[in-house]
Amino acid sequence: MILVTGGAGFIGSNFVLDWLAHVGEPVVNLDALTYAGNLRNLEPLRHDTRHTFVRGDICDRMLIDRLLADHRPRAIVHLAAESHVDRSIQGPSAFIRTNIEGTFALLEAARAYWSRLPEHEQRLFRFHHVSTDEVYGSLDPDASPFTERHAYEPNSPYAASKAASDHLVRAWYHTYGLPVVTTNCSNNYGPLHFPEKLIPLMIVRALAGKPLPVYGDGLQVRDWLYVKDHCSAIREVLARGSAGETYNIGGRNEQTNIDIVRHICALLDELRPDPSGPYARLITHVADRPGHDRRYAIDAGKIERELGWRPTETFETGLRKTVQWYLANAEWVADVQSGAYRDWLAANYAGRGDHTA
Ligand code: NAD
Ligand code: TYD
Repeated sequence: MILVTGGAGFIGSNFVLDWLAHVGEPVVNLDALTYAGNLRNLEPLRHDTRHTFVRGDICDRMLIDRLLADHRPRAIVHLAAESHVDRSIQGPSAFIRTNIEGTFALLEAARAYWSRLPEHEQRLFRFHHVSTDEVYGSLDPDASPFTERHAYEPNSPYAASKAASDHLVRAWYHTYGLPVVTTNCSNNYGPLHFPEKLIPLMIVRALAGKPLPVYGDGLQVRDWLYVKDHCSAIREVLARGSAGETYNIGGRNEQTNIDIVRHICALLDELRPDPSGPYARLITHVADRPGHDRRYAIDAGKIERELGWRPTETFETGLRKTVQWYLANAEWVADVQSGAYRDWLAANYAGRGDHTA
């Protein structure tokens, strides 16, 4: 079996569902259920005996020791994190705790467990650390996309905390020989995405007839990947990636934020026309994010060449599926919005100089 951390979050729940559908190997899913963790995401697994959910904190070393001893996983897929840049600007301490101290606790527990495994199991064991392209910092408009050899230049507290965790993972390989792999992925989108992030936020707000808050000029560029394609890449790296290696994952799909928002509006105009007029009328430019990275872009050549991985969705097909998912799952959205999400919205958009909250 495998141990997944953060498996009730956006990518984690997509990964657990995808893993059980494609691989079928049992999963122990450790998640603290912060505001971003949602057990409802795992509803299809309610009666699936291959899935064991454990509510707990990755900083809790005793709990992790016990889970490893009881379940004897052959791999750990580490997704648990604080993941939202704007939240990291408002309050970085949770990011330092979970992303750095939590990864440290998990590495130490994994090392103790791994060092006691029989030799053949030691060779096969993997600690798969799921990270982000944001550790590389911002690219100039004409610069080449990030390769695995790009210098780390994190700019937000979130990116800095993920960079620190990547360094710890690297050190545990070089110093202790723990067989780790790290993947640095670009921006994900798709079903079950918490509506604080750009794409689900815009869909949900447009449907509610609320202003669509584009930070600054909206010409910042991100490289977007459909979440299921990220899940398939993690599966490939876990199956065939080499210990000690890092792999960049991305969709070769650079988009400006404003183009994405317009694209979402056009899809909604087609799928759920608003009698009051085109959704693009709701687009509002608001104060920019401090230290806002201008451009991210991933060179996915290594994982494509070495592991033969390719994304299956284009941005056109992936975004259409995503909008359709949110239209079909209004109850999921309502559930999420009735929680801490509302307080968070008020805090983030207060003082940005318009009426977005
Ligand atoms: P998310 O915020 O949706 O989910 C994070 C999950 O981790 C939640 O279920 C939360 O309850 C859990 N968690 C938080 N703190 C915890 C703790 N101390 N102990 C146990 N569980 C805890 O995040 P996501 O978007 O699904 O991202 C998952 C991982 O992928 C993160 O490591 C993130 O850095 C990375 N990543 C995300 C993206 C993206 O676009 N979302 C892109 C590249 C990499
Ligand atoms: P986000 O989804 O927060 O991901 P990240 O910051 O990790 O890339 O934001 C994606 C882009 O969208 C980023 O450039 C910030 C921008 N953005 C807005 O313009 N308005 C918003 O309300 C949000 C949440 C993000």
